This record gives sequence, structure tokens and C-alpha cells, in this order.
Amino acid sequence: MTTAESITPAWKALESHADETRSRHLRDLFAADPARADRYTANAAGLFLDYSKNRIDDQTMALLIQLAGESGLRERIDLMFSGAPINITENRAVLHVALRAPTGASIMHNGVDVVPLVHGVLDRMAAFAQKIRDRSWKGHTGKPIKNVINIGIGGSDLGPVMAYEALRHYTDRDLVFRFVSNVDGTDFAEAVHGLDPAETLFIISSKTFTTLETMTNARSARAWALAALKDEKAVARHFVAVSTSAKEVSAFGIDTANMFEFWDWVGGRYSMDSAIGLSNMIAFGPDHFRAMLAGFHAMDEHFRTAPFAQNMPVIMGLLGLWYTDFLGAETIAVLPYDQYLKRFPAYLQQLTMESNGKSVTLEGKPVSHPTGPVYWGEPGTNGQHSFYQLIHQGTRLIPCDLIGFARSLNPNGRHHDILMSNVFAQAEALAFGKTPEQVKSEGTPDWLVPHRVFEGNRPTNVILADQLTPAVLGALVALYEHSVFVQGTIWRINSFDQWGVELGKALAQRIIPELESPTEPALAHDSSTNALIKRYRAMRAR
Ligand code: F6P
Repeated sequence: MTTAESITPAWKALESHADETRSRHLRDLFAADPARADRYTANAAGLFLDYSKNRIDDQTMALLIQLAGESGLRERIDLMFSGAPINITENRAVLHVALRAPTGASIMHNGVDVVPLVHGVLDRMAAFAQKIRDRSWKGHTGKPIKNVINIGIGGSDLGPVMAYEALRHYTDRDLVFRFVSNVDGTDFAEAVHGLDPAETLFIISSKTFTTLETMTNARSARAWALAALKDEKAVARHFVAVSTSAKEVSAFGIDTANMFEFWDWVGGRYSMDSAIGLSNMIAFGPDHFRAMLAGFHAMDEHFRTAPFAQNMPVIMGLLGLWYTDFLGAETIAVLPYDQYLKRFPAYLQQLTMESNGKSVTLEGKPVSHPTGPVYWGEPGTNGQHSFYQLIHQGTRLIPCDLIGFARSLNPNGRHHDILMSNVFAQAEALAFGKTPEQVKSEGTPDWLVPHRVFEGNRPTNVILADQLTPAVLGALVALYEHSVFVQGTIWRINSFDQWGVELGKALAQRIIPELESPTEPALAHDSSTNALIKRYRAMRAR
């Protein structure tokens, strides 16, 4: 298909449909259809989705599903699950689904069944995690490990830190877990503050094992540990690596016996359920880790087999696309009503924006319509007291995903009902708003009425689950992974490369020696960059 062909009959029909229905209000849609709340729901892998408060009707959904069909979504799903190299710009398969395939399943990649490989690494991770958890893995001086520091960035950090925070309830509280990502020395300094090197394990997590930030932090970690332990042999007891590159791991000086492998068919932002999750497995244990994988897998199976009209990732992906391409939304807010999910929006930012922040099609032609929206968010109810004002009364359309749980992991009097009342209240307020008549009837003076009116018609998805368990977290992450794939498929972009991060990296490599040079370097950038470098050098010298 060419770009023009990606504008299919359903796409054209959706454009007209959007024009015809743009002014329709959710109030009217609900008034006209008492069964709406029952019909626009989906269930999968322990998650319940209410999508009735979206600006859709049966025709919208039918056209969106037609669009998915015309875009070849069914074939693309099958291609992904079969290990085809759908990441065409890197000539790689996209097989994160194999990371959570159960024992006995079979997924072939280049003639090799990768499922036994995955389980082999999981077993090694479990054995190692167990030794840290039962304190039988001793540091160089014979003291057991008490502190675990994951050093990684992007997908080698955001997944582990998000899952650690999300499942903190299930973690060994006598172990300390910290995560270092930023090349800013502050990140490392604060992470090791107060820790004894003799009791500290570093997990150097990097798919490539060449990432500047991670390697810089890893070198600082080694210097910090060896300054105290004073013996190169200590590295073997205090450093392990997670990577796809044994060559780079041993070049760095970590014995590959202490390396946990993953594969180039796992994208960085799709890797939290690979060995990249080693710190998580130590934190909450192999059983919970496997339960999380089972949750991922349950959502994978739903995505692979459910008809599109009941398929939760398909529905969520299509709704996001509806707002992005037909109703002019530029961002989507993800608002988890659970403090444990505080890093979930940050995790989703890489997943969604590194995947679908693309402007050329698979054929290298410019896309003809907007692609990946900006994802952002904060846990409720905190966000309500900062940015929700703009969502309720601002000029922008911001679809929101609200995520809540029936049972708290920390029940405490009225807290949870109060929390959840806000989920339902926000979705209600955003959808139905408050009319001038309602505001007036409350005795509001005329001049104040416009300020107190809520236009409403702001769409939300509400995702509910019983409790934030490892399995539910896995299902939730897989839900977003697959909805990103649905959108990427319809936009005909490659959701699995990230060339857009390269230019800045290359320019930084050029500028580093210019900053470090003891003599004034000859600069050949643009005039602004030259002046900034000169000013920085002068300010630093003062
Ligand atoms: O710079 C972007 C990126 O390549 C991400 O895609 C990736 O998750 C991150 O850097 C870290 O890469 P690595 O795991 O190879 O250190």
C-alpha cells in the first residue's frame, strides 16, 4: 500500500462521519440510548473497560473496525506473532509476546523455537534472584547483598522502575532498590548515598551495552565499589549485566557468566518482561514475576484471538486514533487512580511516543495525517488539583484513560471509596458537564455563569480491575503495547524503530570533546550553539 492507499474507504467515511457528528454531545448520546453503558464495554485478562463515554456511536465503531480490517490489522497481528521481521528498518522480528509465552508453547524465529530460550533465562534469573532474596549470594567481603541498583535508561530503566513501584506491595522490604538512569551525576550520587559497597549489587541493564549514559554510570559504579572493596575480583560479586551483547559485556569487564541474556527481537521499550526485569524479579520474587508474565500472556491471547469488536487493545487503539486523526486531539492523558502506578504514565510515554512518534510510512513516504499523540499523566487524585482544570474547561480536546481498582492493597477506612468516587465523578463531569441553566438554577449571578459552566463532551475510558496484582499489571502493560501496535498498523508506520533519537546522540558525541578540551576548541556549529558552548566554558571556569 502507498500513503494514498492508506486513506481507505473507511478512512474517507470516517472523515465525513466526524464532520456530521462533531457537534453531537455525550448528553444526547446517553439520553438516546439507555443501553449505551452496557454495550460499550469490554473484558479481557482481568481488566474491564467502559468506553461508553467516548464520542462514538455504532456507526463510528463499525467504521473504525472496518478501517482496522482495510489496514490489514489481522494479517499484521499474525505476522508479528509469527516472528516475521516487521521492524523493517532494522530487519528484526518483533517478538516481545514470546517473552511471556508459557512453557510448552512454540514460537519460531529463524528456524529456532525461542520459547525454551526464554524459559532458560527466566530459570537462571530465578535462581539468581532467589540467592539474593535468601541472602545466600554474598558480596566480596562475605556480607550478603542488601542493596540492588539497576543502572539503565529508556526501556532498560522505565519498565523496571515502573514495575517496582507498581508492585512495591509485593517486594522484600528488607532489600533496598534504587534506579539510576540519568547521566547527571546527581542521579548516581543520590542512588548510592548512605549505601555500603560491600552490600550493594549493580545490575547494568542495556540492550546494546553501548549507551553513553548507562556506560558512564556503570563506570562510576565500578569506581565507587572498587574504591571501597579494593580488589578487581569484587566485580564478579557486585556486578551483573543484562544485555543482548555478550561481546560488549565482556569488553566492559563483566564476566558473561554473570550476564542475563535477551535478544534483538525484543525492543527496548518492550523489554520489561525480559531479563531487563531482573531487579523486579529480585524485588518481588520469581513467582510474582511469572504471574506478571501470565497476565501479559492472557492479554496477548485476547489480542490475538478476540474479534475486533470485543478486542480491548483494538478498541483502545481505534479510539485514540479517532480522536487524533478525526477530532483534532493532540494529547491523551493517562490518569491512574492508584499511587503505586505513579510511574506508569512515564513508562507509557516511551512505549507510545518512541513507538508512534513517526512521520514517514513503511514505504518512506510522508504520512498524510497526524500520528502518535502526546501521552502524559499523573496519579489521581493529585492531578485533579493541578491540571484537570484545563481538561475540564480549556480549549483543547484531551481524551483521558482513568484506571482504578475495586480493592486497595492498603485498605484504610474511607480512603479507597473516596479515591474511587473521584474516578467516577471525573468521568461523569467530563462527559456531561454542567449547563448554563444548571449553573443559573443554583443562584449563580449572571456575570459568573460562563465561568462556572462545564461544556462537557470530554471523552474518557475507564479501566477497572479487581486489585493491582502482578497479573493485572502485566495485562495492563500488554493492553497499551498492543493498542500502540493497532495504531501503528493503521498509520502504516514502523512502531518498532527509533531513529529519531540518533541525531542528538551523535551531536553530543561531537560536543563532549569541545567541552572537555583544555584549550579553546575551534567550533563549527551554528552561531547559537557556538555561543552557548563558549558561554558554558567561561561560566564553568569562573
Ligand atoms: O535512545 C533510545 C534508546 O535506544 C531506547 O530505545 C532504549 O530503550 C534506550 O535507548 C536504552 O538503550 P539500551 O538498553 O541499549 O541501553
